[in-house]
Amino acid sequence: MDLQALFDTAMKASSASYSPYSKFRVGAALLCADGSVVTGTNVENRSFGLTICAERSALVSAVSQGKTQFVAIAIACPDAAYPVSPCGACRQVLSEFADQDMPVVFGCRADTVVHSTMGALFPFDALHELGHKE
Ligand code: THU
Repeated sequence: MDLQALFDTAMKASSASYSPYSKFRVGAALLCADGSVVTGTNVENRSFGLTICAERSALVSAVSQGKTQFVAIAIACPDAAYPVSPCGACRQVLSEFADQDMPVVFGCRADTVVHSTMGALFPFDALHELGHKE
């Protein structure tokens, strides 16, 4: 699957977003090493700090299915006027499983997709020496 198709999948996933407080839908699509795609959405909570972002939602879903190797992630935020990149917490959590050269693409529409990488979004990972990578 190419990155634009992965973005389209993230956009479709955003329709399942549970975001009654922010009204800001986000979808994420994680391309796994086995060729499968696992999606996630943001899931908000009335105790606002317990909200989980779409990126972490997709990641924990994939890992829960035994998938821990990833090729790329796409994030779609149709309610934004500009491409929204992963938050700091998601960058940290994604870095547990993503190599620095893994593509991260994000956009609010299919024609505004920004192409980045894990390393560009999360450089100088101070904890990489603690990482458990085989
Ligand atoms: N959100 C995500 O799901 N991913 C991002 O990259 C940015 C923010 C969610 C969290 C919250 O439900 C809403 O967007 C507004 O911050």
